[in-house]
Amino acid sequence: MDEQLQGRPTAHSRVTLSKIMTAVDVNLYGTVHGGVLMKFVDDVAGAAAARHSGGTAVTAAIDEIVFLEPVKVGDLVHAYAQVNWTGKSSMEVGVKLAAERWDVVGATPIPVATAYLVFVAVDVAGHPRQVPPVLPADVDERRRFKEALIRRDHRLARRAAIQKARAE
Ligand SMILES: CC(C)(COP(=O)(O)OP(=O)(O)OC[C@H]1O[C@@H](n2cnc3c(N)ncnc32)[C@H](O)[C@@H]1OP(=O)(O)O)[C@@H](O)C(=O)NCCC(=O)NCCS
Repeated sequence: MDEQLQGRPTAHSRVTLSKIMTAVDVNLYGTVHGGVLMKFVDDVAGAAAARHSGGTAVTAAIDEIVFLEPVKVGDLVHAYAQVNWTGKSSMEVGVKLAAERWDVVGATPIPVATAYLVFVAVDVAGHPRQVPPVLPADVDERRRFKEALIRRDHRLARRAAIQKARAE
């Protein structure tokens, strides 16, 4: 069997990026712009997908992104990502963002956003290529794998329903 396609544990793809938010990241209300956080989410998810698939992977879809708390200038934001589920060439990546408030010393980082993205591994010509299966090892990883399947089923069912409605 191709060594590149041997199963990899969920932990193999785990990536953390951290950055301090600055004045150029703010929206009109003075808190960090959602688009800045979305780029951060996409960056960390892309790193996890590339690590799992051992090469280039492109963002195919963002299934869900939820902003839980505003982020402020000066906050240190950590982005955690891992591959939750794999198909043939696609992967679901789960992302969590947590912020350390700049003005609260030693506090536990608070969750500020969660997201689920679909990445597709591609070859040099940009065509989908096969990815190794992800091997969830503990209870949480198995739960995330199952939940990713539910999101995929809903996505496919929604697309089919819309196509059917358009054809009527
Ligand atoms: C993503 C992309 C490579 C898919 O190519 P494609 O020829 O349509 O691929 P296929 O229809 O053969 O599907 C390949 C896989 O992608 C998945 N996929 C394709 N479009 C998808 C979508 N919109 N949402 C979720 N999954 C999708 C398929 O389910 C399939 O998964 P599987 O192999 O695990 O079963 C292509 O659409 C593309 O290049 N899109 C632009 C990506 C981009 O520029 N992103 C932003 C910058 S990184």
